Amino acid sequence: MQYEIAPSILSADFMILGEQLKSLEDAGCKWLHIDVIDGLFAPSISFGMPVITCMRKKCGLFFDVHMMVTDPGRYVEAMKEAGADLICVHAEACIHLDRVLQQIRDLGLKSAVALNPATPLSVIDYVMDKVDMVLLMSVNPGFGGQSYIPVVTQKIRELREKLDAAGHAEVLIEVDGGVKPENAEEVLSAGANILVAGSAVFKGDVAGNFRTLDEIAGKHR
Ligand code: DX5
Ligand code: ZN
Repeated sequence: MQYEIAPSILSADFMILGEQLKSLEDAGCKWLHIDVIDGLFAPSISFGMPVITCMRKKCGLFFDVHMMVTDPGRYVEAMKEAGADLICVHAEACIHLDRVLQQIRDLGLKSAVALNPATPLSVIDYVMDKVDMVLLMSVNPGFGGQSYIPVVTQKIRELREKLDAAGHAEVLIEVDGGVKPENAEEVLSAGANILVAGSAVFKGDVAGNFRTLDEIAGKHR
């Protein structure tokens, strides 16, 4: 299975974003986690299509777009245009989750569903065949630099068991929030494939921080 570190640009220095992305690519990074926040679904406003369009022109990383946006179906086409490779929507933000996931797949993109820490795993029971990845939030969405919520480790184990038992072992699990070198092994051994890391990568030596985390993920490859 695939195991990757996905640096979250929410903690990047936007004055030197291009340089930071280049140093990640040079360090062997493959995925980039892009947090789009609308100020309604989650209590902050980040950035949108113009920024993603600019990054796409210069950056070859896999764009994992995490939409913390109410009714995200309104924007999936625009996100594809901007350069998304994967679009992740929150189950809590979609009245018609099945339809939105199908919309994403119909555009030829990878699809994912995100669950807030308090949302039960059962919400994915009838959409497992429409997702390439499930994102488990390990903080409440909106901000970088929060602490990992410990109970999520058990949730990761339960999700891995649920996907395997349903014949969907190929579905990736991404964990987002408070991941750092100290807890990365715990998260991976519970069954996660993709570890989002914002502050743990972008504070200080970006390439060095990435390599430290990637070495831990590499043991599972
Ligand atoms: C939070 C975002 C995260 C955030 C993670 O709402 O979805 O992707 O950037 O930041 P850290 O790794 O600092 O917790
Ligand atoms: Zn995120």
